[in-house]
Amino acid sequence: MNFRQHLVLILAALGGAAAHAQTAPELKPPADSSIPAGPKGVAIQAGKLLLSETHQRLPVNVGNKLNCTNCHLAGGTVAQASPWVGIWGVFPEYRSRSGKIISLQERVNDCLERSMNGKALAYNSDEMNNILAYMQWLSSDVPTGVSVKGRGFGAIDQKLVPNGAHGKQVYADKCVSCHGAAGEGVGNGAGGYAFPPLWGKDSFNDGAGMARTFTAAAFVKYNMPLGQGGTLSDQDALDVSEFFTHQPRPVYAGKAKDWPKGGKPKDARN
Ligand code: HEC
Ligand code: HEC
Repeated sequence: MNFRQHLVLILAALGGAAAHAQTAPELKPPADSSIPAGPKGVAIQAGKLLLSETHQRLPVNVGNKLNCTNCHLAGGTVAQASPWVGIWGVFPEYRSRSGKIISLQERVNDCLERSMNGKALAYNSDEMNNILAYMQWLSSDVPTGVSVKGRGFGAIDQKLVPNGAHGKQVYADKCVSCHGAAGEGVGNGAGGYAFPPLWGKDSFNDGAGMARTFTAAAFVKYNMPLGQGGTLSDQDALDVSEFFTHQPRPVYAGKAKDWPKGGKPKDARN
């Protein structure tokens, strides 16, 4: 290899490093004032409403009483609450649960079928396009292919061992006031919930990511009790999550086909 070829390789490596440094920009949702006028803006606004009033606006597709934003907090703009900022440019993406590359539409439908215990939307439906328009707008300032800081639900120490009996106590101390003694939540007087249910028929099914102890624990650690995220220890977050995720909830038959190529995580539900 001559000097020139070396130089090209070094520059390529530096370029790679620069791209890497860029892999996690801060999560900064765009200002509402940047929503354009015209049909595109109408679609963005419609998508935003579908995601925050989901059970009411998509009664055919939602089988429980949740809204997408009960978990993807504040319209999908909160770090460690699986934000949608930047999500537009990272799909299609490989998912080990599916064992293949999936599109953003397929990912939205995964949450409809599991987190919402419901049915997929047609890829060419107005509703799906409105949801995508909102997610695309949210991602306006994030380079294609790059995940923002705080994508997903954050990390929880995987070596900890969950204790559901202690979790029941944590639940009684820290969660029961809003989510109820039977995990039933508190209604909003309009057929939905002011405080969403954590188990029972109106909750997510057992194929949902939130039904996995460690995934739920990460969400809980950073976001619950609402307004006091970060106050529970990893162990308390894990214990309370072991408790509430394993209470009775709708069953997702399709979960037997998950992780078709292996790599099934230890907290996956059988
Ligand atoms: C009960 C909580 C919950 C609800 C409600 C919910 N989701 Fe999710 N969502 C999750 C979890 C958990 C994950 C991550 C799963 C994993 O990685 O194991 C996720 C992931 C996603 C992702 C991928 C995020 C990423 O960074 O790759 C998208 C997009 C998404 N959800 C869209 C939706 C939409 C649209 C709705 C409503 C139709 C919805 N979700 C409702 C819990 C929820
Ligand atoms: C002050 C009231 C309050 C307390 C206390 C509270 N939550 Fe929540 N929780 C909420 C609200 C409200 C939402 C929905 C947020 C939204 O829609 O913006 C929520 C959402 C959730 C969700 C996702 C949606 C669902 O229904 O599955 C989970 C899981 C959750 N909380 C678990 C917990 C756990 C575990 C505790 C105790 C450690 C707890 N919460 C304490 C108010 C509370």
